[in-house]
Amino acid sequence: MQRLQPDAAGIAAAAALLKGGGCVAFPTETVYGLGANACDDTAVAGIYEAKGRPSFNPLIVHLSDTASAAEYVTFDGAARSLAQAFWPGALTLVLPLRAQSGISKLVTAGLDTLAVRVPDHDLAQSLLSAFGGPVAAPSANPSGRVSPTTADHVAAGLDGRIAAVLDGGPCDVGVESTIVSCAGSPTLLRAGGVPVEAIEACLGHAIARDLDAETAPTAPGQLLSHYAPQGQVRLNADEPQDGEHYLGFGPGPADLNLSPSGDLKQAAARLFACLHALDAKGATRIAVAPIPDQGLGRAINDRLRRAAAPRDAGA
Ligand code: TXA
Ligand code: MG
Repeated sequence: MQRLQPDAAGIAAAAALLKGGGCVAFPTETVYGLGANACDDTAVAGIYEAKGRPSFNPLIVHLSDTASAAEYVTFDGAARSLAQAFWPGALTLVLPLRAQSGISKLVTAGLDTLAVRVPDHDLAQSLLSAFGGPVAAPSANPSGRVSPTTADHVAAGLDGRIAAVLDGGPCDVGVESTIVSCAGSPTLLRAGGVPVEAIEACLGHAIARDLDAETAPTAPGQLLSHYAPQGQVRLNADEPQDGEHYLGFGPGPADLNLSPSGDLKQAAARLFACLHALDAKGATRIAVAPIPDQGLGRAINDRLRRAAAPRDAGA
């Protein structure tokens, strides 16, 4: 796997690999994505192959702006308001797919909707411009493992399985994008980098939630055991038991701490790095401190619940 530098030569090399049907990992403001040409079935298959991903799990397509997204999907009023308010940024919109969009069926997993997002990251934007088309990109980790927030995380999971990683340093947001479907009335499918409170404030009303991991076919990607470190995870633990590594939040003793000051944004940015670090320590049992279930805390708790789910509940 090549490591490409965040300069003109690195961007050109990454774009050339994408044009040639290769898979390239690249940074976004949320997590590193594993990109491929969204219109090329073979290239997209390469993503599933590299990740070992369940094939019914559709992918997010990354575009440089709303106008480019509108070539592939249709926007209603709510979708337009959300795009205007939060793009570029950590929001993915699931919207009706246009006929003759040219998007590979492997990207949508056969659905008549498409998840689209405009990333708020200079290097991601430069790569999208240099490539000049839609880039399908799930998080750049083996399926069921922790999402990568550095090029080293990408290398740890996918070295030898992908062409290259464009190294842009650590990701700012640290959890994936919030996913809202506007294919019907607006519905939250995944908590993420944009708090649902901000989405509801923009729309002027509360929106429905469909986060139920067990109903995977209607809300794909909600596989329960989706963000799992190697060790068993116990949640809402005020203190560790014998043999457990303690992942803390807020002041107090801990093996690792998501945020000693109890800051949810810092905790989100550090979450996957901490889970990777616990993997690297060989932790077999992990206890996690309670995290407030508000704002970014919802996304953190969603990831943690998946990490703690029984391992046969998903891939
Ligand atoms: O922050 C992010 O969103 C990152 C970066 C790389 O952009 N990407 C990411 O992709 O998290 P991924 O593939 O790991 O998660 C995509 C989620 C999955 O839960 C998938 O099921 C859901 O989006 N999804 C994709 N298309 C969908 C659709 N048409 N309807 C419902 N859910 C969809
Ligand atoms: Mg993922």
